[in-house]
Amino acid sequence: MRLPPPGALALLSGLAFMAACAATMKVGAPIEGLERDQRDQFDRGRKGFERVFTPRTGLGPLFNETSCAGCHEDPVSGGSGEESELHVAAYSRGGVCDPLIEKGGPVIQHKVTPELKAALGIDSEPVPAGATAKGTRTSPALFGLGLLDAVPDEEILALADPDDADGDGISGRPNRNYDGRLGRFGRKALVPTLDEFIAGAYVAEQGITNPSVPDEETIGGKPVPEGVDLVPDPEIDRKALEDTIDFVRFLAPPPSQELTGAAKHGRKIFSQIRCDRCHVPVLKTGEHAVEGLSNREVAAYTDLLLHDMGPELSDICLGLASPSEFRTQPLMGLRLSHRFLHDGRAKTIEEAVRMHGGEASAARDRFNALPPDGRNALLEFLKSL
Ligand code: HEC
Ligand code: HEC
Repeated sequence: MRLPPPGALALLSGLAFMAACAATMKVGAPIEGLERDQRDQFDRGRKGFERVFTPRTGLGPLFNETSCAGCHEDPVSGGSGEESELHVAAYSRGGVCDPLIEKGGPVIQHKVTPELKAALGIDSEPVPAGATAKGTRTSPALFGLGLLDAVPDEEILALADPDDADGDGISGRPNRNYDGRLGRFGRKALVPTLDEFIAGAYVAEQGITNPSVPDEETIGGKPVPEGVDLVPDPEIDRKALEDTIDFVRFLAPPPSQELTGAAKHGRKIFSQIRCDRCHVPVLKTGEHAVEGLSNREVAAYTDLLLHDMGPELSDICLGLASPSEFRTQPLMGLRLSHRFLHDGRAKTIEEAVRMHGGEASAARDRFNALPPDGRNALLEFLKSL
């Protein structure tokens, strides 16, 4: 027997190693290809993500939960959560959207510290008087978002068809932040980057000021009363902020599963009835300083664009998004979710599809018209994601 040359052996054992990694990779694991110090940062970041704050360490005075993991925890840190929260905005007939930032919007905090309660006698932030709509938001899973953060703007813009030039009834347009940059995070795709979303989440959800967002939330537009806030701002330093951001950035998408025959058939139906016009199966990241995020394909099933989903799903406006426009929700990790659509009104995947309206009405009708075995195959595919 002739031994293979040493190089080939190394390659073979490398492949075997990668196969073993894929088989054992768990939900909540970091992306592959991280360097040692990046891996350490991921581990430190997880601790920051799970860190429970108290008023003595900066919590509040208004807040929704005491840690990121308080809402993003199922089945592991970085997952979804049972918590829902309230967002508000004012939409005027001319199509102008006011997120009511000066009056405490768009995120309303449901809880207050004992110190704030003692000072003002309130149990939660009041809803601003000028709000024209309220929207409930469930806490989504964060797996794979670092890859979505690394998709170049041009790739997303190339999918947009704001005037429906191809006449398929599906337009898709980008949201833009207040300074004109392309948005992609949040159900209405207002926030351009993961960094900004997370720095904002620290303040909006936990009342934790940080070097990127150094000011406390106002109390319905009024400043925090004297003596209520026990910790000088910023309440965490840049290192702590960056660790948490990198924990989320490096979270891998849930590992893909082997498809059954029916699920493979369902995948074909998914594109035949054109679910894939919005839930674009694969996006590709651009060059990135982190090897594991550079030039990777991510099977996220989204175009990160806004689509009009019809009057039934409509709630608040945000940036350029009208009340009925939502970002195509990524379907990666769908198998881990227990409730669906932005406010969790759908208890099953099937219900969620049947509730699609607006630009998605034709795809929904094609779904409804499928013979039972075709519908079951499609659902089996969706449950494998
Ligand atoms: C009170 C519950 C709660 C807490 C605490 C919380 N989040 Fe969230 N998170 C949410 C909700 C609700 C949304 C959806 C917001 C939306 O759709 O506009 C969200 C969305 C996100 C997103 C965007 C997801 C997407 O698909 O675009 C990221 C990233 C995120 N959270 C990270 C964090 C981090 C990091 C922390 C801690 C600093 C945190 N969250 C704390 C409830 C929470
Ligand atoms: C016009 C674009 C569009 C088309 C076509 C479309 N969807 Fe969606 N889909 C969306 C948007 C936008 C959302 C988020 C809506 C919300 O949160 O209220 C969504 C949400 C979902 C969800 C819920 C995900 C979650 O985690 O809450 C599922 C499941 C889904 N779509 C499956 C499908 C299937 C299957 C088809 C084909 C029959 C389809 N979609 C066609 C835009 C589309």
